[in-house]
Parts: sequence; structure tokens; C-alpha cells
Amino acid sequence: MIRLAHFSDIHVTTPTLEWQREDWFNKRLTSWFNLCFLGRGKRFAHAEEVASRMMEEIAVRNVDHLIFSGDATALGFESEIRRAAELLRVGELAIPGLAIPGNHDYCTGTAAASGHFERYFSAWQTGRRIDAYHYPFAQPVGPIWLIAVNAATGNRWALDASGTIGAAQLERLKRLLNELEPGLKILVLHFPICLKDGQRELNLHGLRDLDALLAIANAAGVNLWLHGHRHAPYHFQKSAHANFPVICAGAATQTGLWSYGEYTIHDTTLTALRREYDPTTKRFRDAETFSLSLSHNR
Ligand SMILES: [Fe+2]
Ligand SMILES: [Fe+2]
Repeated sequence: MIRLAHFSDIHVTTPTLEWQREDWFNKRLTSWFNLCFLGRGKRFAHAEEVASRMMEEIAVRNVDHLIFSGDATALGFESEIRRAAELLRVGELAIPGLAIPGNHDYCTGTAAASGHFERYFSAWQTGRRIDAYHYPFAQPVGPIWLIAVNAATGNRWALDASGTIGAAQLERLKRLLNELEPGLKILVLHFPICLKDGQRELNLHGLRDLDALLAIANAAGVNLWLHGHRHAPYHFQKSAHANFPVICAGAATQTGLWSYGEYTIHDTTLTALRREYDPTTKRFRDAETFSLSLSHNR
């Protein structure tokens, strides 16, 4: 029996940000405007407090492995990434973890190339890789493989929240999946397969090479896809787009949506417990349980 804790989209920011001249001409400016004037800042006003409380609780709940599926920050600044890693206690907790960046963490091309996310989350990015390439990587958890795929890209346009894995990473993923010893295979991405209503994501918000990834995942017998990006949690046993289940963790720290998932995997059955934050008691409480079969694709 394996127990995983899955959280996503904590969207932490800091009072002092490292603005550079180029940021006034790229996506950061509109993202900052959204943060300050269009409600994002208000929705994540309690992000620090909720993230701290979440990690305090997870630390004592007998979890074998932590999974963070991206969007640690609001604008992808180094100070935000550093603070997010501190709040999630990356490298401090004794529980091993896996982390991938989200589109906000790679807010601009410069942020994507900076390596800040990979540096501050390095303790949660160990694993088996193809040659010296950072992504994808695989971590064993007992008889299970967690496989991290990075689809965050430094997008240029203000409204572009999409992601791309790229042909080279897809080819490495194919090799990695083929090389892993037998076991359940769980893909961890920031981006979803589909929305809560089962429809595909919009082009400007989704994974641009989703079809290519699904072809590889289906052929390799992937058993589960874990993601964030969408801030309300949902799950599917099967969707029109893939024959394996998916779970969206939702945003762990967004006011009113604040929750994370604990998944107990026994043989090929996953039992999920979603725990949500209660602002009155400042603790997390059980909110929803559901089960998924991971066996149909083996
Ligand atoms: Fe997000
Ligand atoms: Fe996102």
C-alpha cells in the first residue's frame, strides 16, 4: 500500500519582486495587472498561511511521497520560487517529493531559462532520466513509477497560458517509459487532458501537443495522469481522450477552493481523500472520497 499527497497551484508571491526592464514589455506586466487589479491577488491572499498549514498536516499523515504539479508562483520571479519552496518545505521534510513547474513559474522566456525552479525544487527533482536531460524524470515509490513531464514554456503573449512538451522531450518520455521496470505508471504534468465537463482545453490554456502525448501514454500503458492548472478539483475514471483515469488536484491555496488530495493505492485501486482548508479552525478536514481503478490499461 502506497500513500501519496498531491497538491498544486499554490501561486505564492512576495512583497519585493526582481523586476527588470524587459518585464514591462512581456507577459509579466499583464500577469501583474491581473494579480493586483483583476482579483488574482485577492483569490490567493491566504496562500502563505494555507500552504504552511497544509505542509504541517501532511508531515504527520503517514504519506510516502509528495507530488507538486506546478504553479508555485504568481509571476515566476526568483523570490517567489524561493518562498514557495520554503513554504512547501522542499528538502526539509523527510518525505521524498516530485515537483514540476507550471506556466506561471515559467512566466517569461527569461524565467524559463533561468533554472530557478529547478534549483529551488531540486530535492524534489531527483530521479531516473534519459542521458543528461532534466525532463522527463521518473521516481520509484514502492512498485509504482511517478513520471514527471514538463510542459511549461515561457510564452510571449499576455493571454497565452498554454504548454508544449516538445518533440525531443516526447521522444525521451517514450524511451523512459519503455525502460522502466514493470509497475503502475503515473504521469505528473501541470496541464490537464480535459476540463471538468470533459471538453478539451482551449488552445490558449491547454497542452498543445496533447495528442502526441496521449498516443505515447496509451501505448506505454500509463495507469493515471495527475495534474493541476485548473483551480477547481475534478477527476475522471475515463474520458473521451484517454483510457486511463485523471485527477486534477485544483488549487491548494485559492480561497474557497483550497484543498489537496491523499491517494492510497492498494494493488490497482486508488482511494482518494480530498482534504479542504477550513478558515475557521485553520485546519484541513476531509471533504470528499472517491475510488479509481488503475488496472484497465495494464
Ligand atoms: Fe494555476
Ligand atoms: Fe497553470
